[in-house]
Amino acid sequence: MPRHRHTPGSFIIAAVMKKETRVNHPPRAELPEGNTPVIDPVYRSVKYTYPTIAEGRTLSGRGGFYYTRGGNPTTRQLETLAAELQGTEDAIAVASGMAAISNCLLANLASGDNLVFFTESYKPSRSLIRDILPRFGITHAMLSVSDHAAIEQTFARPETRMVFFESPTNPMLRVADLEFLLGLAEKHQVTTVLDNTFAGFHNHGDYPVDLYIHSLTKFASGHGDVMGGLIAGNQDRIRRIRHFAVDFGAVLDPAAAYEILRGMRTYFVRYRHQCDSALALARHLQSHPGVSRVFYPGLPDDPGHDLARRQMQDFGAVVSFEVDANRDQTWAFIDALQLFVTCASLGSSESLVAPARLYWGTDLDATELEQSLIRDSTVRIAVGLEHVDDLKHDLDQALGKALGMAQNRA
Ligand SMILES: Cc1ncc(COP(=O)(O)O)c(C=O)c1O
Repeated sequence: MPRHRHTPGSFIIAAVMKKETRVNHPPRAELPEGNTPVIDPVYRSVKYTYPTIAEGRTLSGRGGFYYTRGGNPTTRQLETLAAELQGTEDAIAVASGMAAISNCLLANLASGDNLVFFTESYKPSRSLIRDILPRFGITHAMLSVSDHAAIEQTFARPETRMVFFESPTNPMLRVADLEFLLGLAEKHQVTTVLDNTFAGFHNHGDYPVDLYIHSLTKFASGHGDVMGGLIAGNQDRIRRIRHFAVDFGAVLDPAAAYEILRGMRTYFVRYRHQCDSALALARHLQSHPGVSRVFYPGLPDDPGHDLARRQMQDFGAVVSFEVDANRDQTWAFIDALQLFVTCASLGSSESLVAPARLYWGTDLDATELEQSLIRDSTVRIAVGLEHVDDLKHDLDQALGKALGMAQNRA
């Protein structure tokens, strides 16, 4: 192979370069043939060159790169891996889960289109759809994911072009009926977009979903120290979204892509462990006198249990529950936890806790709140990698403290 004329260190006049020039064209540590790094390097370079203009013009057809906003080898490695795990032809990685959602929706909808989505969904997605998309002439119908009659009616309207949904939903772990939604969408030629963040890459791949969304900030990275998002689907759809996302500058930095790729190595081990602990904690909470209701599709009496068993390989690592108490006692319980960290997010190595109403319900009116099942006493936990006995102990001591305090006060 001829050496690249711009390869640093191979420049013919390296020996006579001034030092000011040399620092900008440093020597390269070339690997001898067959000497391969086990972990691929992070391609930090924003720019990619080529030997001749003519060869440069054919680069994109050969899987080459020009400029990192449009594509980067490290980010591409993450996209290829994620598409494979989700069972789609292609994927595009972007800067956050919300960047994935906004780019996906805006790239696929136009003025006059109607979007169906659900009260049982992540609050910032609701705010994007209710507060921002109308500015672009995109209307919406916010329904309950279990109200099949209303969904059928709305899908039948010719202006309905897309359904955007989660399963299990954030924060109340409702399970969407995929066969029903996807069958109806096919009948009415409605594009289906599933935010699959809670279920993970290994779930729902067998269903004919048009586009999957993931917040890579969660289970993919796994440690709560890097943000990213992904849209996965067939080549045509991803090509169209990529064109849009590149012009919108939604790019994931390659250093972040590398950290997420590193997280992916332990994705299955972490996810399975967290699911096992979540089920154990859901059972534990269900038998606790201070807890009035537990929301977790892994529990046999959960309304989503049969659907989840059919649709998923496991039941997820997030559990919600109602403390048998008022808002102040519920907050006192959360404040008394020692291992669970009070904050948003999920899929981290440490367990997290949050008051659901305060974090995910402040934009909902009374009727919508009722539909969402979020109450003042609803608590969401996102299970980490600690020993489950310690987590049980922490829940018990905090419940005892908060409810005991309340009893003493009464
Ligand atoms: C279901 C769901 N979708 C999307 C997002 C947004 O992801 P990010 O924080 O990476 O933008 C979140 C974040 O919590 C989420 O829970």
